[in-house]
Amino acid sequence: MARHFLSLADIPASELRAVLDEAHRRKKARVGFAKGRPDQDTPLKDHVLAMLFEKSSTRTRFSFDIAMKQLGGSNITATSSDMQLGRGETIEDTAKVLSRFVDGIMLRANSHDDLIALAQNSKIPVINGLTDYNHPCQIMADLQTLEEKGRTLKDLRLTWVGDGNNVAISFINAASKFGYELRLSCPDGYKPSGQDMERARASGGNVKLVDDPVTACAQSDVVIADTWVSMGDTDAEQKMKDLEAHQVNDALMSKADKDALFLHCLPAHRGEEVSASVIDGPASVVFDEAENRLHAQKAILKWCFEA
Ligand code: CP
Repeated sequence: MARHFLSLADIPASELRAVLDEAHRRKKARVGFAKGRPDQDTPLKDHVLAMLFEKSSTRTRFSFDIAMKQLGGSNITATSSDMQLGRGETIEDTAKVLSRFVDGIMLRANSHDDLIALAQNSKIPVINGLTDYNHPCQIMADLQTLEEKGRTLKDLRLTWVGDGNNVAISFINAASKFGYELRLSCPDGYKPSGQDMERARASGGNVKLVDDPVTACAQSDVVIADTWVSMGDTDAEQKMKDLEAHQVNDALMSKADKDALFLHCLPAHRGEEVSASVIDGPASVVFDEAENRLHAQKAILKWCFEA
């Protein structure tokens, strides 16, 4: 059976640890290389990845493209409107056809159910490039970033501020795998599902809801924000009102540890979920985080293909 990367909740902690170690190792091994130069070992030589997008992307699209090239392979990128998928061909048939042509599929999907259907009908690895439910590749890059800043994951207090969205769900899914404490400060109507919180706790995750963002950020080692209005949201005006007390700004960051880091998966909206002074300030590591999408995903691709 193919080895898929769909949710951090489904992958053993030891394997996720090995993926992060590989991401660090590969990043260090190519210091000084031109960006287009392949890694020394080219482990995915002759492998082709299909990259399918139902939604826009900058980081996911470029980082997977360069990742395949650096690993010695290649890719074919298509939006759903380029494909018969956009004209009603089923996801199941798409999976069966692509399994005959390429070695793996990365999908950015509107619906997590479609990602699962793709994986269930695919003979080749499927990687989650973001769904309405979660964004596991992003969190691997975020955790790589924290470690390269010298932080030990199991000792960290992470605070998520804002909408308990798909990125938040992947932080919840990973809590028991890496041992960090996760506080989530999300207003009513924006809290993550109780089912995900319970599942995380049942597997040993230290995850908690803290309504007041000031209390949630107190002595935190990492503060995390994400855009309030995601792709496809139709209620932008209402969301902005509901979330306005959850902006990460200097006043909120001052409650965190003095060496606290700020994460944001980007794209960001300065003056909405985060002030310019925070995202462009000394605590922010958002561009290292973006770069690490490349390194983390190379390790994820290798993990999927080597099974
Ligand atoms: N963070 C992230 O997934 O960025 P893109 O939407 O640009 O891929």
